[in-house]
Amino acid sequence: AKQIITVIKGDGIGPSIIDSALEILNAAGCDFEYEFVDAGLTALENTGELLPQATIDAIAKNKITLKGPLTTPVGEGFTSINVTLRKKFNLYANVRPVVSFEGTKARYEDIDIITVRENTQGMYSGLGQVVSEDGSEAEAMSKITREGAQKIAVFAYELARRENRKKVTIVHKANILKSTSGLFLKVAREVAALYPDIETAEMIVDAACMKLVMTPEEFDVIVTTNLFGDILSDLCAGLVGGLGMAPGANIGEDAAIFEAVHGSAPDIAGKNLANPTSVILASIQMLEHLGMGDTAERIRNAVADVIKTGDRTTRDLGGNHGTTDFTQAVIERL
Ligand code: NAI
Ligand code: MG
Repeated sequence: AKQIITVIKGDGIGPSIIDSALEILNAAGCDFEYEFVDAGLTALENTGELLPQATIDAIAKNKITLKGPLTTPVGEGFTSINVTLRKKFNLYANVRPVVSFEGTKARYEDIDIITVRENTQGMYSGLGQVVSEDGSEAEAMSKITREGAQKIAVFAYELARRENRKKVTIVHKANILKSTSGLFLKVAREVAALYPDIETAEMIVDAACMKLVMTPEEFDVIVTTNLFGDILSDLCAGLVGGLGMAPGANIGEDAAIFEAVHGSAPDIAGKNLANPTSVILASIQMLEHLGMGDTAERIRNAVADVIKTGDRTTRDLGGNHGTTDFTQAVIERL
């Protein structure tokens, strides 16, 4: 039977970069069936709901989802749909690789870092959100469980082993956030001890920010909690040329959602300016997840050649072409 993939085109630049990725998958000979569903602002406008039941059902049924960025309205009592999806499907691991591509305007050349972000707990658990009636006080709860910390640490070390990586850096703030980050560090250390073949480093998150900028070659796999992982992965995107270069996979036991790290980029939406590489790389992660490594490699090589030769690249890559021209340049190489 054909692999069915749920596709959420998303908001802002979402539809244009998802279309790009789908055209490239088709050009590479992938014989998938796509089930298109809505979420985010598009869904709100069409159905009155940010996350319609039909979308949830499709994600559950097909197990594999390719997703564009979603706009979450600020305030107005809306919970982030991304956070909701990650919690609902227990997508506990957020895998965000950044790799240097020759020809970008990035300051570094040999970056190859994977951030493994715990995706359901910590400051983003959504628990205990209270704003006092007069608006003068606000609080939220951060929750880390032993089980959650253990699962993400095992995931990071297993990934390191599988991909022949040398080192895992545990990033934390256990000196200040003694209970939550403290438990995370304690459990991550226990897991690290089970993987003597892989070097382990520990780093406090603020120092990690400095070191990522000064000496990024020290990093290989990073494992960290939700909020730190969110911030560090955008920093890592900056090392390889920006958010247009950064994909992410949200992995759980029963479902996986592949997407860009960035948001809906309202400042450039509808102008054919977005760099679709982030979502193309996310679709490459999806192919690898499906055991289609050869096709993934072919697409990666085509993208790398477009960027290296500067043939029809987008503005953020130093070119002066649009999303559709870039896509065409990749397709010609396939
Ligand atoms: P953003 O990531 O959308 O944009 C930040 C900056 O990066 C902007 O200048 C944008 O033009 C640029 N940029 C992003 N992607 C690009 C691409 N592919 N090519 C070229 N330039 C690119 O962050 P922002 O503006 O803070 O958030 C906008 C909306 O996106 C918000 O509603 C936010 O909630 C949502 N968001 C959704 C995410 C998701 O669905 N996974 C993740 C992050 C934000
Ligand atoms: Mg983010």
